[in-house]
Amino acid sequence: MRKKIVAGNWKMNKTFDEGVQLVKEIIELYSKEVTSQVYVVLAPPFIHLYKLQPLLFGMPMLELGAQNCSNMPNGAYTGEISAAMLKSVGCDYVIIGHSERRAYFNETNDWLAKKVDIALANLMQPIYCVGETLEERNNGKFYEVIESQLRDALFHLPEEQMRHVVVAYEPVWAIGTGQTATSAQAQEMHAFIRKIIADKYGDELSENISILYGGSVKPDNAKELFEQPDIDGGLIGGAALQARSFIDIVKGIK
Ligand code: 13P
Repeated sequence: MRKKIVAGNWKMNKTFDEGVQLVKEIIELYSKEVTSQVYVVLAPPFIHLYKLQPLLFGMPMLELGAQNCSNMPNGAYTGEISAAMLKSVGCDYVIIGHSERRAYFNETNDWLAKKVDIALANLMQPIYCVGETLEERNNGKFYEVIESQLRDALFHLPEEQMRHVVVAYEPVWAIGTGQTATSAQAQEMHAFIRKIIADKYGDELSENISILYGGSVKPDNAKELFEQPDIDGGLIGGAALQARSFIDIVKGIK
């Protein structure tokens, strides 16, 4: 059975003290209110990770993720953080290929393929992001774009590694805009992604891959999105910065 996951991507937000406070509030609300079998992944900026790990002890369904990692194992790469470093502070997941990194830091599918490899080699699950721009949606190219993002960064993986990948579909036009994809649009793309994976790796593997939706997920639209048969949770930006809205989204998973 595939895992249900709600991940909070804090992006470049929260000072150290604010981050600790937010996680304490999330833990409190989560412990009181969340009853479903859902993995909750917190992906704060790097500086928070070491401090947050002990706060999550004894909470097996609350896990840590990073927002990025280097595509190199170690060495003279000033300013980079390696996958091994992230694993050493308790990260189980790493977001790879977020559209903000593709757009502002020129990360290409080939480059991202190396990050996926290095994350898996360090026993972390990549949350690999795909998504089309508004222009690509409007000119009808969006299926091709998503297919090449999957093929070029993931499809070199052997089956036993592909099983550990989580895919996040985040249409760029829905990120931070308040304009979420409709549940029908999201479901359509998730079903397409699952089919592309099935064509390469077979139905059994594809049925067991978690595919998350991201882009303006809020407490009032989460439940309908998460009820779609191919949507296994969410990757949340703005609404993950407050414990109340984040936990209300988590509660949208049955
Ligand atoms: P928003 O939820 O703020 O639209 O951001 C989505 C996102 O980019 C998560 O990675």
